[in-house]
This record gives sequence, structure tokens and C-alpha cells, in this order.
Amino acid sequence: MPGARAVAEKTGAAVVKPAAAQPPASIPEYLSKNYWWAYLRPASLRIFDHKSVVSAILWGQYNGLVKAALAEADQGAQVLQMACVYGDLSPRLAQKIGPGGALDIIDIAPIQVKNARHHLAGLPWAKARIGDAANPGAQKYDLVLSFFLLHELPENYKRAVVDSALSALKPGGKAVFVDYHRPARWHPLRPVQALVFALLEPFAKRLWRAELAEFASHPGRYHWQKHTRFAGFFQITVASSAPSDPGAKTV
Ligand SMILES: C[S@@+](CC[C@H](N)C(=O)[O-])C[C@H]1O[C@@H](n2cnc3c(N)ncnc32)[C@H](O)[C@@H]1O
Repeated sequence: MPGARAVAEKTGAAVVKPAAAQPPASIPEYLSKNYWWAYLRPASLRIFDHKSVVSAILWGQYNGLVKAALAEADQGAQVLQMACVYGDLSPRLAQKIGPGGALDIIDIAPIQVKNARHHLAGLPWAKARIGDAANPGAQKYDLVLSFFLLHELPENYKRAVVDSALSALKPGGKAVFVDYHRPARWHPLRPVQALVFALLEPFAKRLWRAELAEFASHPGRYHWQKHTRFAGFFQITVASSAPSDPGAKTV
């Protein structure tokens, strides 16, 4: 499996050498430097992996955002979730697609993969593995979901992850990006969120200035639809690939 090193060469991002046995993907520097406290320590899981905590971080909007993501998942779908998330999104997604579907969750941090496996016990059609969202592998999916991943990524990684989400789609498949968005000017929480970004999330504010289609190398190949929630604070952007032409000849 190509690791963060291969992606780093492609994107120019730096990587940190793994300390112990060589895992299939190494932890990128943006993660170990900016988000070690949120994702890479056992204490991170104890503190943050609660629906109430994630909901508070997302200003009470977590459940609505999860429901919007789940609405895009059909029963029996083959789904790629591009990173682990705290809360109950993954088991709910697995239940929504049912045992006729398949949920493939990748995360670059082994501790997160282990935790996701714990949440997915009893749902054998849902599996978690170590992998880089910028390079998830050759498999194609009906749905690719990125839930609050993009805002944590530096520019080149944002581009690589959007491109890899789109490339992983089957004809007629959808990539769903749930993330931050530029709030309305009058939004009372706008300055608070700007402060949080300035202190803790160095790559997040980019999503206030760009449409997600701008990160794609070939945006014109997809149909883009954006819905916002909470007066623009959050977005659900769906990029759909064209269905295959049933009349087309295969050679
Ligand atoms: C999805 S994001 C944000 C989740 C959000 N704060 C929540 O829990 O609802 C956090 C996850 O992304 C993972 N991650 C960061 N960069 C990644 C990459 N390039 N590929 C796969 N996973 C990545 C981190 O290890 C972490 O588990």
C-alpha cells in the first residue's frame, strides 16, 4: 500500500518517521504537529470519542450533519469512508447500507483504526484499515465519504484527497464532503470559530475562501451540488460522476 511518503513526494508535504515497527502508512507531519492532541494519544480517544463532545465542537450540529451524510448512502452500497471519526457515524453508516453493502474505512493513524474496529464489532461488512486518504487504493465505490477531514489538511493534501475521492468512484457514484464552510457575516459564532482556527486548525480557514470543486484537477467531469447548514457554517458538497452509458461499446 502506498504510504504517506509516496504522497509526500507527490504533494511536497513532509513526513515523520514512524517510531516503532513499520506500519503500512506513516503519520504525515501536518497530523503529528497540529493534531497529536486530538487523534494520536490514548487520552485523545478518552476525551473526544463521545457524541456529546463532537456535538459540542460542532456547535450542536453533529446529528444533522451525520443525517445529511447518511441520506446519501443507499442500502447495499459499497462505501469508502476516508478517515475515522469520533461519535457514532461509522456504525450508523454500516447499519444504513446493511449487510448487503460494504464499508471500507481507512485512517492513517493505527490508534484510530483500532478504535474504529472496536466500534464496528458485530457489523462484519464494515472494516477499518490503515491507509492514506490521498492514496486509498484501486477499488471503486458507490459512495466516498469525507467527514471533517479536508479542513485539517494542508493545501496540496486537500487537492490529493479530493482527487483520490473522485477517482475512487464507480460510474454514477458520489463523493460526499461534509466540512466547514464560510459562515454568514452576521453569524455570532463566526469570530469564535475564526479564533479556534487561528489557534488550533491552521489549514481550516481555506474552506471559507474556496469551493471544494476548486481542489479537483478535473472538476468539470463531475456534477457538484452544495448545501449549507447553520447559516453557512457547514457544507455538504456532493460530487456525482456520470453514470456509464449503457449503449456504449466496451472494447
Ligand atoms: C476525519 S478527521 C476529523 C474528524 C472529526 N473531528 C470528528 O471526529 O468528527 C480526523 C481523522 O482523520 C485522520 N486522518 C488525517 N489525515 C489523514 C489521511 N491523509 N488519510 C487518512 N486519515 C487521515 C486522523 O488520523 C483522524 O483519525
